[in-house]
Amino acid sequence: MRCPICHEPFRLDQRRVICGAGHSFDVARQGYVNLIATGTPTGTADTAAMVAARERFLAAGHFARLAELIGRLAVERSAPQHPGIVVDLAGGTGYYLAAVLDRLVGRVGLCLDLSTPALRRAARAHPRGAALGADTWLRLPIATHVATTVLSVFGPRNAAEIERILAPHGLLITASPLPEHLQQLVGPLGMIGIDPHKGQRQAATFERFQSVGSDVLTYELSLDHDDAAAAVAMGPSAVHVDAATLASRIQALPDPVAVTVAVQVTTYAPPDH
Ligand SMILES: C[S@@+](CC[C@H](N)C(=O)[O-])C[C@H]1O[C@@H](n2cnc3c(N)ncnc32)[C@H](O)[C@@H]1O
Ligand SMILES: [Zn+2]
Repeated sequence: MRCPICHEPFRLDQRRVICGAGHSFDVARQGYVNLIATGTPTGTADTAAMVAARERFLAAGHFARLAELIGRLAVERSAPQHPGIVVDLAGGTGYYLAAVLDRLVGRVGLCLDLSTPALRRAARAHPRGAALGADTWLRLPIATHVATTVLSVFGPRNAAEIERILAPHGLLITASPLPEHLQQLVGPLGMIGIDPHKGQRQAATFERFQSVGSDVLTYELSLDHDDAAAAVAMGPSAVHVDAATLASRIQALPDPVAVTVAVQVTTYAPPDH
């Protein structure tokens, strides 16, 4: 960890972290450390309702196969002979960080997110995981070349900072929705769809990186109406359609409804230096 103001290392002092220059940040009662500067816009952070819905949806196991795949890829290229931490960027509740730490038994991990309700959960996601409040578009409060594994699952991507924190032997694992992802809900419920050019945009974002593997994970879920509602409520569409309209559209769905999961998981090595 590094101080977000001066980028000096921290030491732990009772219930706060403090850098050499004296900048200090409290460890919250729930166990996370908020390093977000006062005044940073937090408009893109997930709300408490979104986080609760995401936690419910993930706890039901609907994305367990994605967590398994990410965990397996992290193990395959874990470079056990090298030191390094696992970093989950915009990691939400820390679900994927926990899956990776379960499989990389010697490692510790950090989950970074802008959402306080997410951080409260991420702080408890894994005994070897910690949660930091940070805007991942800004300089990350993490030292240079220390991450052996960086996760970016359905979140914003700051390639320059990912490159800076990744160790030379490190691996970036991204997961992005494909156009068919949750398509049986997107149309009928008026959710925000997936940009068909997302793949090209991602390739441009990581053009300096070396793509070392790509997996397409597709499977069918059978969701009851509560789970279908959670799938909407955990994403940006939650504020897009008013609650009464959404409830009547969900009522009109088959119960259970068959829903496609379609996610592209790409692994990258950092650029050669
Ligand atoms: C779609 S959710 C994905 C969460 C998690 N990776 C998962 O898949 O369960 C996007 C996450 O990005 C976070 N977020 C949005 N903007 C952010 C930013 N600028 N910096 C850090 N996190 C951000 C949100 O709070 C939310 O937790
Ligand atoms: Zn400082």
